[in-house]
Amino acid sequence: MTNVLDELERRRAVARLGGGQARIEAQHKRGKLTARERIELLMDEGSFEEFDMYVEHRSTDFGMEKTKIPGDGVVTGWGTINGRVVYVFGKDFTVFGGSLSETHAKKITKIQDMALQNRAPIIGLFDAGGARIQEGVAALGGYGEVFLRNVLASGVIPQISVIMGPCAGGDVYSPAMTDFIFMVKDTSYMFVTGPDVVKTVTNETVTAEELGGAKVHTTKSSIADRAYENDVETLLQMRRLMDFLPANNKSGVPVLPTRDPADRIEMSLDTLVPANPNQPYDIKELILKVVDEADFFEIQDTFARNIVTGFARMEGRTVGIVANQPMVLAGVLDSDASRKAARFVRFCDCFEIPIITFVDVPGFLPGTAQEYGGLIKHGAKLLFAYSEATVPKITVITRKAYGGAYDVMSSKHIRGDVNYAWPSAEIAVMGAKGAVEILYRAELGDPEKIKARIDEYQKAFANPFVAAERGYIDEVIMPHGTRRRICRSLNMLQNKSVQNPWKKHDNIPL
Ligand code: HXC
Repeated sequence: MTNVLDELERRRAVARLGGGQARIEAQHKRGKLTARERIELLMDEGSFEEFDMYVEHRSTDFGMEKTKIPGDGVVTGWGTINGRVVYVFGKDFTVFGGSLSETHAKKITKIQDMALQNRAPIIGLFDAGGARIQEGVAALGGYGEVFLRNVLASGVIPQISVIMGPCAGGDVYSPAMTDFIFMVKDTSYMFVTGPDVVKTVTNETVTAEELGGAKVHTTKSSIADRAYENDVETLLQMRRLMDFLPANNKSGVPVLPTRDPADRIEMSLDTLVPANPNQPYDIKELILKVVDEADFFEIQDTFARNIVTGFARMEGRTVGIVANQPMVLAGVLDSDASRKAARFVRFCDCFEIPIITFVDVPGFLPGTAQEYGGLIKHGAKLLFAYSEATVPKITVITRKAYGGAYDVMSSKHIRGDVNYAWPSAEIAVMGAKGAVEILYRAELGDPEKIKARIDEYQKAFANPFVAAERGYIDEVIMPHGTRRRICRSLNMLQNKSVQNPWKKHDNIPL
């Protein structure tokens, strides 16, 4: 018996070494942890159970039969994060550069199937060189199997991708079909084709960092949702994120204990909105003052900063926050902001996370750049996402709600459940100056007259009461009581049940 126990220990020790000590050291020298070290940090201590540690590839081409390494470049299994079950796979760069073979893909799909069947989230840690070059079509087939499962699980269980090294070729499309992508600054990059191919095909000279580093994907392409300084910070933030997310689309949101009273009054909110309607203020101050313990997990914090999206809790329950940011482009809705918020709203709706919307929006951004870039369709994405969402939707208009953007931002007309306005709200077709310049074009040469017209328009429309008189606003509330109002509304809406008409699926303007 001792012999077989020793043999098990020996085989485990060999497998745990992956591609060997020298490659582990090379990984560390680059500031990266190994796949197993990462998973240990991500999961609760001692909770990770590894599967398929002894799996080896079956390739016999290019002398591959002589180089078999147990695990075959990916570490898979399950464990818990703060006590809740999570499935995980981590590409092991020390084994064939983490490249994907037929058997490597089978290990991933086994975990994907288990996660879906058992309705628990799955996290993938990427650090790999794409398809195993020696395997050819077997590797391509493997990718296809992974992609299919990403799609089938979409909207059923949360799927998170974390890019912690190279992620190229076939490896990029699985993350792209998951709910969120996170990257590590300086050590990770993502692209379909690398700098060498780019040079050959387009004659462009570009570095890996310039082509697909964390900065590019969190500020330009919006492929990644956030980036962190190093492996450790990234993994700890993933643990924090998982505490906000439901296990699946039917489980309901997690409930965490909180000491923050639901009826907490924030007097400073009464002076948050400046008297001058053109002066900005930071909408994040409002978010932090309203949510439980000022704990806000922002999504896409460096892209389309004119809209803020992220997770928070009210009375311990997860909510999604969408808020126009007057500090950036006056909070205007443009194509990027619309796409960013639409995707976030849809995530919340898939997973039954109530949505709280703070509105201060001067309208859609005019101009050829926006129109040529498809503003109509991108804006429609957000309108579509809010309209189809059946989760509880609470809206608070703090200041401007102008034009089409008023309708889009979770208005009553697209099934906002509770629509509040602060007394500083201005709900109108457009700002007073713009309106007067159109209505009284003939008087434009007379500044006195125009000023009087602007004052007149402002008095008539720059308030929440015209909308409140029609029932478009349920109540005009004191800013200091915003948290209490939202908590009460969320409780009131807890059993909300709305069904959209049966359909195979909708046809959102992609
Ligand atoms: C087999 C690979 C590999 C691969 C890397 N390795 N990529 N083995 N298949 N795709 C091996 C290397 O031979 C090396 O082995 C070890 O991993 C580490 O790689 P290095 O090149 O030494 O590391 P580094 O300098 O850090 O460069 C990393 C890299 C580079 C940028 C990822 O390895 C690279 O460019 N790899 C190829 C990328 C690629 O073109 N993949 C195919 C994409 S096509 P040793 O034994 O020396 O340690 C694709 C199509 C699928 O994926 C489409 C499906 C839809």
